[in-house]
Amino acid sequence: MNFDEIIERRGTHSAKWDAMETVYGVSPEDGLPMWVADMDFKPPQVVQDALARMLDHGIYGYFGGDAEYKDAIRWWMQNRHGWEVDPAHIFTTHGLVNGTGLCVQAFTEPGDGVVLFSPVYHAFARVIRSAGREVVECPLTESNGRMVMDFAAYDAQMSGREKMLILCSPHNPGGQVWTPEELRGVAEFAKRHDLVLVSDEIHHDLVMPGHKHTVMPLAAPEVSDRLVMMTAASKTFNIAGAHTGNVIIADPVLREKFASVMNGLGISANSFGLAMITAAYSPEGAAWVDALVEYLDENRKIMEQGIAAIPGAKVIPLQATYLVWGDFTDTGMEVEELHRRVQETARIAANHGESFGMGGERFLRFNVATPRARVVEAVARLQAAFSDLQ
Ligand SMILES: Cc1ncc(COP(=O)(O)O)c(C=O)c1O
Repeated sequence: MNFDEIIERRGTHSAKWDAMETVYGVSPEDGLPMWVADMDFKPPQVVQDALARMLDHGIYGYFGGDAEYKDAIRWWMQNRHGWEVDPAHIFTTHGLVNGTGLCVQAFTEPGDGVVLFSPVYHAFARVIRSAGREVVECPLTESNGRMVMDFAAYDAQMSGREKMLILCSPHNPGGQVWTPEELRGVAEFAKRHDLVLVSDEIHHDLVMPGHKHTVMPLAAPEVSDRLVMMTAASKTFNIAGAHTGNVIIADPVLREKFASVMNGLGISANSFGLAMITAAYSPEGAAWVDALVEYLDENRKIMEQGIAAIPGAKVIPLQATYLVWGDFTDTGMEVEELHRRVQETARIAANHGESFGMGGERFLRFNVATPRARVVEAVARLQAAFSDLQ
């Protein structure tokens, strides 16, 4: 577990490193990629060993028999989240963007509205719009260092065409851990407007010390008949390339609809993903995650303090995720100028806030899941790029 180790990722078909020049004009020669949400760390040895066993065996045929995999998920959810999952309720998808698309197909019709709390993970809106459904953005507002939901305003916004709501819990961007009360508010809102409630909890393991994530079925068991849970090991263990996620549905009617869409698209499990996750959801994997979170917590503090030292810039401390959400609004800078300074002067590729929807315009999202030396370097570069504001 040496998270300080610098591992060369350039030229390895890494989206984060090898596409940064195309997307942001930042050369991987001396640029720092702080965008795509994957980590510059190897997964725990137990995962590497599972893959090595597959390579040693050397035959890569169709996968059959996922009982061990589903039991590993059951164990993890029970041990890490206090949530009892029935293995029969688990669908294995090709990741959670795939899971989102399948939910859109299964639970909505073209022209229906899908509610999002904005700003939020950008792929949701892309998937919804590509399927010919409408994105209904309910804006989050900031109050006392917290993103807050205004349900009275959202109630007034509903047209009756909305069929589904996607919650991101913990929230991305911003890394907020929703309280059980806030989660119950979301559940009641979904009930009031008869919405299927999809809870994307992909970041649920990466919660900073002092905060506690509550899974939606524990916060609001009364909405289990409209709840679709999405979980994955991909962010937790840095295995997103294995494209394996889980959609967990307790309600038999929703399960039937989801199964029908999955079968219609011929989606079946990826044996590499299943092997890695089965190994990861173990005591060894859990110890690695504990160490990882401690490391990330230190990285995010360095980045947050570094951003906050820039006049006009501020940041709400991350409670979860490794994605620091910097607010540059009070620098008074136009968005183009902000991006020019970060990309051309600091040579950092960070996600543009506006891609997350309404309210994200003058924000930048920085991925700090990288060896600490790079985070320190990023802070120095950012402070130099804005030094005229001192
Ligand atoms: C909230 C959320 N959901 C889903 C994903 C991506 O999921 P996958 O790689 O399983 O498609 C991300 C990646 O950053 C995310 O932040």
